[in-house]
Amino acid sequence: MKPRIDTEKPHTARIYDYYLGGKDNFAADRRTAERAMQSWPAVRTAVRENRAFLGRAVRFLVAEAGIRQFLDIGTGLPSANNVHEVAQGLVPSCRVVYVDNDPIVLAHARALLTSTPEGKTAYIHADLREPEKILSDPVTKATLDFSQPIALMLVAVLHFVPDSDGPRRIVDTLLDALPSGSYLAASHVTPEHDPVGVGGLERTYQASGLPAQARVADDFAELAFRGLDMVEPGLVLVSEWRPAAGGVRPPASEVNWYGAIARKP
Ligand SMILES: C[S@@+](CC[C@H](N)C(=O)[O-])C[C@H]1O[C@@H](n2cnc3c(N)ncnc32)[C@H](O)[C@@H]1O
Repeated sequence: MKPRIDTEKPHTARIYDYYLGGKDNFAADRRTAERAMQSWPAVRTAVRENRAFLGRAVRFLVAEAGIRQFLDIGTGLPSANNVHEVAQGLVPSCRVVYVDNDPIVLAHARALLTSTPEGKTAYIHADLREPEKILSDPVTKATLDFSQPIALMLVAVLHFVPDSDGPRRIVDTLLDALPSGSYLAASHVTPEHDPVGVGGLERTYQASGLPAQARVADDFAELAFRGLDMVEPGLVLVSEWRPAAGGVRPPASEVNWYGAIARKP
């Protein structure tokens, strides 16, 4: 049975789509987003910077790290520069498994299944908090070769897993399944540069029934990257992770979002 799309309750994928200027959102999502923007007015700048980080991360992983397989959890609604589009644009044989737990992403998943003939893309409706199910899903097993390096993408999703859900165990379970030479790319909202604004957004999400927990750099590093070899420039604002030359970068108090990539030794 297909999971039901509830338009009365806000969902993070649809709120994010609204921030990005997309059309796959409903009044409840827009209300929560507008309330959140009262606390953190530059959140649209921040999500664009996060999305740009995602693109640069995939390019780095394919072009410099030699990665050909991706497990992208917390995919979001199809948008510009989806992981497979960037990856297969560089190497057409790249394979991607997309995972999200939002029924609306499932409804739009067709747009993620436009693989090149040489590569493969697949979509699973599943929850990050149940990593074993993601790993043992027949679609995952049929698409990814776990004897070869895989990039695990946890981009803008770990802040929806509060400490009470045991995020460290989740990350460990996923990383344990990957061979040496695999990578983790992750990004995460932080309260460090605008505690009042980001705290307000966090409370707005929580009041709408959405789990949200911003984390400081040390906590994000400990949660996601412990035991991995950090790629230069390390854990930095997403806007500062190997930025394109020449662009003007927004201040930290607008971005409020860290990103990093690391290699499993
Ligand atoms: C902010 S969007 C990020 C989209 C994309 N990764 C990016 O960075 O542009 C977060 C996505 O994570 C999904 N998500 C949140 N909690 C999740 C969970 N527990 N399991 C799977 N997906 C989840 C949401 O539905 C949403 O699509």
